Amino acid sequence: MTEQSQGPALDNLLTESRTFPPSDEFAAAANAGADMYAAADADREAFWAAQAERLHWDTKWDQVLDWSDAPFAKWFVGGKLNVAYNCVDRHVESGHGEQVAIHWEGEPGDTRTITYNDLLAQVSKTANALTELGLQAGDRVAIYMPMVPEAIFSMLACARLGLTHSVVFGGFSAEALRSRIEDAAAKLVITTDGQYRRGKPAALKPAVDEAVAQTPTIEHVLVVKRTDTEVAWTEGRDIWWNDLVDKQSDKHTPEAFDSEHPLYILYTSGTTGKPKGILHTSGGYLTQASYTHHNVFDLKPDTDVYWCTADIGWVTGHSYIVYGPLSNRVTQVVYEGTPNTPNEGRHWDIVQKYKVSIYYTAPTLIRTFMKWGKDIPAGYDLSSLRVLGSVGEPINPEAWIWYRENVGAGRAPIVDTWWQTETGAIMISPLPGVTSTKPGSAQRALPGISAKVVDDQGNEVPHGGGGYLVLDKPWPSMLRGIWGDNERYRDTYWSRFAEQGFYFAGDGAKYDNDGDIWLLGRVDDVMNVSGHRISTTEVESALVSHPTVAEAAVVGATDPTTGQGIVAFVILRGDAADGGDDAVKALRDHVAKEIGPIAKPRQVMVVPELPKTRSGKIMRRLLRDVAENRSIGDVTTLADSSVMDMISQGLNKGSED
Ligand code: WT7
Repeated sequence: MTEQSQGPALDNLLTESRTFPPSDEFAAAANAGADMYAAADADREAFWAAQAERLHWDTKWDQVLDWSDAPFAKWFVGGKLNVAYNCVDRHVESGHGEQVAIHWEGEPGDTRTITYNDLLAQVSKTANALTELGLQAGDRVAIYMPMVPEAIFSMLACARLGLTHSVVFGGFSAEALRSRIEDAAAKLVITTDGQYRRGKPAALKPAVDEAVAQTPTIEHVLVVKRTDTEVAWTEGRDIWWNDLVDKQSDKHTPEAFDSEHPLYILYTSGTTGKPKGILHTSGGYLTQASYTHHNVFDLKPDTDVYWCTADIGWVTGHSYIVYGPLSNRVTQVVYEGTPNTPNEGRHWDIVQKYKVSIYYTAPTLIRTFMKWGKDIPAGYDLSSLRVLGSVGEPINPEAWIWYRENVGAGRAPIVDTWWQTETGAIMISPLPGVTSTKPGSAQRALPGISAKVVDDQGNEVPHGGGGYLVLDKPWPSMLRGIWGDNERYRDTYWSRFAEQGFYFAGDGAKYDNDGDIWLLGRVDDVMNVSGHRISTTEVESALVSHPTVAEAAVVGATDPTTGQGIVAFVILRGDAADGGDDAVKALRDHVAKEIGPIAKPRQVMVVPELPKTRSGKIMRRLLRDVAENRSIGDVTTLADSSVMDMISQGLNKGSED
């Protein structure tokens, strides 16, 4: 591994070796016990069948796993179920209709309390509305919405009708939405007029208008009123949610779909410019989302209040706000806004107000809280918290310890959960009532899951050794392919260790002396910014689409808060401006417009030349050295070794804000 980033975990591996066993009290009451590992090892398929039994099936499967068409898995073959029924109706039928499903908190402070009875009525009305629009099982629906309850109603209504949803993060651009609608040939977009961000309404519908002007497959745009902002309107195409959904019957009979019926597509960055539509299906996905949520977070549906701070635009929102938690009859908080509106105590205010007991967030936010200072959480009553989770990137031991002490009162177990959009659900994580947790390590594959760290040849490395993380056995919530591109699916995940039949996750990892796994960051050209995957190529394509740019190279540089920050090196066209502040600002804004604000480079450096090998491959390692202010390593393979001097000298001209 030459190009592997030195993640914070690696640096701290040597300095942090304390472990934290669960209290006897926690262990005694935990959903998951140590015996599960042995049970799963003894008979994997029987183990997963038992997990699937936690769901309601209209028709039971006749085969647990069909792997004969590898790498295309089929789980619970022949089984039929309705995913929405499992997340909503069955809880009402079992007598929990009055239980709160969602405590919704709007950014301005408005709230909505949604019981399972309410959720059933709203999902049924939405399903009836989508049926009235002529949508049929198998059709694709794009959902481009902020964190409002209607986003969840929409996802569940799609699941109920066998429609395949494609949620596009509300922070993405019109162009990102357009390309995703086009790739999936979606017929409907569900959106809102706007969203509240940092105390102000921000428009959302204009981006939809811009996108659908170029997507002929879209028949309707369904618009939830959230901010009451003036919006442009296309008669016949655009429909207000209130006009269509409110008048519908609140009764709807769900139909059972095949276990392998497509549930959703979610786009994620790969190493090329074109995002990949990750396809997930129904029975296996829900089984693992539900199982992991129950065991990793130790959810007790009668007493816990759960809060996952992700956005539904990411897979974490799919699996750990919608499908996993609701299948387990959760009571959860859903928050619309930013963590520092109206002040930096907003999350702790919400924890105190709803007595949140399980809190799941990302390392980037924990490091932001650290920056804001421990006095902020100290000002609130956080004694309700009993399990803390982390996801999205390696968590450095320092942030882990801070989280434990200042949020978890030195008592709540922390589960560092490793997984991906592609895996659909958590794969590597401590079990909070079993594992002695180690700051910075995700530790061990869950019962029923198999992961290994291997060398270049695919041989497992010894304890203490590092290499590539692979998944060597199929799992129920694994992706079933890339939408419309089976070749790319094989090539991206299964070609690196084709001989062994391993799924290659793209992450570097290491075993410590106890055999626990430490994730070390991506080994490919994918950056991880605040737990979000962005490909270097995607940002490079956006940059070169600007008329002033001749060439661009992008790297992820270590960033104390966001994990990695995007640093772009650009060569301007001869006739373009001189690379002053205005030119740099224009380029940063251009990337934000093309992809979304999260992809806006932290720095753009205008350079006269880019370092390339003799074969013309850009040497990102050197650019990373420059971006991270390290002294530049070996440049002997450079076609023109004076290039690096020019770039380093230009460094201070880079713009940062
Ligand atoms: C990539 C997947 C999983 C939902 C959010 C991100 C990194 C994720 C961890 C963790 C170290 C992690 C990996 C992975 N990652 N969780 N606990 N420790 N790294 O989903 O956008 O599909 O990104 O995020 O690099 O491959 P995603």
